[in-house]
Amino acid sequence: MNKFANLEINGKNLKIPLIEGSENEIALDISKLRSETGYITIDKGFKNTGSTTSNITYLDGEKGILRHRGYSIEELASKSTFTEVCYLLIYGELPSKEQLDYFENNIRVHTLVHEDFKIILEGYPSKAHPMGILSSLITSLTAFYPESLDPSRSKSLVDLSIVRILGKFPTFAAWSYKKRNGHPIIYPDNGLDYCSNFLKMMFKLPSEDYEINPVITDALNKLLILHADHEQNCSTSTVRIVGSSLSSIYASVSAGINALWGPLHGGANQAVIEMLEQISSDNNDINKYIKKAKDKNDPFRLMGFGHRVYKNFDPRAKIIKVAADNVMNKLGIDDPILDLAKKLEEIALKDQYFIDKKLYPNVDFYSGIIYRAIGFPPEMFTVMFAFGRLPGWIAQWKEMRENKEPLGRPRQIYTGSKSRKYIDLEKR
Ligand code: CMC
Repeated sequence: MNKFANLEINGKNLKIPLIEGSENEIALDISKLRSETGYITIDKGFKNTGSTTSNITYLDGEKGILRHRGYSIEELASKSTFTEVCYLLIYGELPSKEQLDYFENNIRVHTLVHEDFKIILEGYPSKAHPMGILSSLITSLTAFYPESLDPSRSKSLVDLSIVRILGKFPTFAAWSYKKRNGHPIIYPDNGLDYCSNFLKMMFKLPSEDYEINPVITDALNKLLILHADHEQNCSTSTVRIVGSSLSSIYASVSAGINALWGPLHGGANQAVIEMLEQISSDNNDINKYIKKAKDKNDPFRLMGFGHRVYKNFDPRAKIIKVAADNVMNKLGIDDPILDLAKKLEEIALKDQYFIDKKLYPNVDFYSGIIYRAIGFPPEMFTVMFAFGRLPGWIAQWKEMRENKEPLGRPRQIYTGSKSRKYIDLEKR
């Protein structure tokens, strides 16, 4: 293969080196473009720009392929637990039994959070969105573990920060929900596995016992795995770019939580249920909302549809759709919102607008329905996305630091006023 592309600028010929990935993806390496020509490239929304090379996740949007460290998402979702996938993403290999036990025990040691976090939690208004609470509690870890701020982190300190954040995240997530409900917090139960412990902290009431339901624990493991990483998406790019300034892992993940929150990214799962409820309360008039979604003068979009990278189908959505049916059957729940979602999908997929623009259901379309069946309120759906994405953020942050990637700092083309003379206040 030709290892260069030729670019002609102002009569000057420039050889642009090509970089080829292990799955034959090819990129033009333009890192010397500006120093050699004075030109930069522009690509709003980074639709066609690779920000890094990475060994973690492979995604082919045209073929609907998603693999972590070479393993297909279908196999991981059906055969692994979430903690195994965390290990795989972060350390690169599926863990042996001993490695997994060691890893899970290390996480267990860190599930408890400092009692002073309860004081921070008390300061929030009861209706605060749990995503805001979660991001600030995660960044507050820097105050309790200031050694994490040291940019010359040793491997052991990084490993400690990793199990700390994996241990404390579910505690913070559950406590942010309890805060919203005005219920007393529930402390971690380290006799339980990772997902069951979280479910207990979420749903146990002090006056009642909480019985672990394996159907729910399995569904949670699957959902978290399906969200675990998705290469250089908006929140992960945020984590990497924040971390590139040598910020701590806690500050970087906290930034990722905020990036995820918006309805075009992780916030879509909450928006999907709100949209379905709106359609349901509007006589199930699906066609009205399809029409709105196609109307360029209407800001309404079909939430849970479309993806920046997937232009054929989102493999995660396929798995979640089947899982939604299974969970509902096993729990004996008949949710008319699931039927409405299926009908909406059927109609949209036959509509020329959605066909032409290659818009398919994404991971957020059916996930909220399962979360709802388990008992999560819509405000917690994006927290659950963040919980699932945590190992991906950690793995990407770690990779970025280990590769000693430079400070992330894009350029721009300035389009404002040219130099002008300052006008004194009395003359304006
Ligand atoms: N409903 C109606 N039209 C849509 C939709 C939608 N959900 N998504 C994209 N379009 C149209 C859009 O109006 C545009 O039309 P035109 O070319 O005529 O201007 C065209 O399709 C391309 O859309 P885009 O916004 O330029 O494409 P993008 O790659 O920037 O957007 C997206 C990707 C996910 C932001 C978008 O599809 C969207 O807003 N979807 C709804 C929100 C959503 O479900 N987000 C979750 C994404 S999956 C979870 C995650 O990983 O974040």
